[in-house]
Amino acid sequence: MIWLNGNPPADKILNEVELRVQKFKTSNHRHIKLVVVWVGNSEASKVYTNKKAVIAKQVGMLSELIHLPETTTAVELKNLLVKLNNDPTVDGMLVQRPLPGTLELEPIHLWITPEKDVDCFHPYNLGTLMRNDPEALVSCTPKGVMALLDFYSISVAGKNACVIGRSLIVGRPMTQLLLNANATTIQVHSKSKNIEELTQIADIVVVAAGLPEYFGKKMFKKDSVVIDVGIHRSNSGKIVGDCIADELINHVSGLSPVPKGVGPMTIAVLMQNTVLCAEKRVKN
Ligand code: GUN
Repeated sequence: MIWLNGNPPADKILNEVELRVQKFKTSNHRHIKLVVVWVGNSEASKVYTNKKAVIAKQVGMLSELIHLPETTTAVELKNLLVKLNNDPTVDGMLVQRPLPGTLELEPIHLWITPEKDVDCFHPYNLGTLMRNDPEALVSCTPKGVMALLDFYSISVAGKNACVIGRSLIVGRPMTQLLLNANATTIQVHSKSKNIEELTQIADIVVVAAGLPEYFGKKMFKKDSVVIDVGIHRSNSGKIVGDCIADELINHVSGLSPVPKGVGPMTIAVLMQNTVLCAEKRVKN
C-alpha cells in the first residue's frame, strides 16, 4: 500500500501559485489579496483561519484575517462582505465555518460575489461545476482530492468511485468532479441502506462522513484507493480521520494519511483559487 501523502503535491501547487503571484504583481503593480473572516471563538476555526492567512503570505499574497465577535449580527456580517465585494484590492474572500448560533442559517453563500468566492459556495460557482465548465472555480477540498489522485497517477475515468457524505463543501462537489472526470459515481450518506454493499464495489472511495475512526477494512474492496477527508481529535489527543487506518494498511492499495493527506491540499487549492480569481478579474 502507498500512503498518499499530501505534502509533495501541495508544495508543487504552492510553487506554481508563487510564480503566478509574482507574475501578477509585475503585470498589475499590486499584490493579490485574500481575506479570511472568522466569526466567534471556535478554537479549530482559529487554527484553520490563521493557517490560511499565513500560507497566503508565504506565497507572496497579502492576507487579512478579520475576527468578529460571537455576537455579530447577520446585518453586520453582510455589510462587511458587501464592503469587501466592492473593494478592488480584495481578490478572494471566505467566511470560515462553522458559524456561531443562527448565523449558520443565513444565506451567506449569496453575500460573497461569485468572482471572489474562493470556497465556491455561491450557486453560480456550483452551477459552473455542474456544467463542467473549464473556467469553473471549484471547492478547495474536492479539487485538492482530484489533484492528489492525479499526483499519484491514480486514474479516474471508467472507475467506480464512491463518495461517503453529501455536504455542500465536500461530498456533493466531490461526486460532481469525479463524474466530470468520467468515473461512475455512487454517493452514500446517513440515510443510505446497506452502505457496505455500495462502497465495496468502488475502486476509489472518498470518505467525508465526519465520523472519527468509523470505517474499517470491511467497507472497502481489496486494493481499492481510499481518500480520508475526515479530521478529528481522538479522546487520547491524536489527530485521526474517518477511517481506521491500521485496518486498511495491507488491504487497500492507497490511503491518504490523517494528518498530512487531504489537509495540505485544501490549503494549496485555496491559494490556487485566490490567484484564479485575481487573474480572471483583471482579464474581464
Ligand atoms: N470549515 C471547514 N472547512 C472549511 C472550508 O473549506 N472553508 C470554510 N470557509 N470553512 C470551512
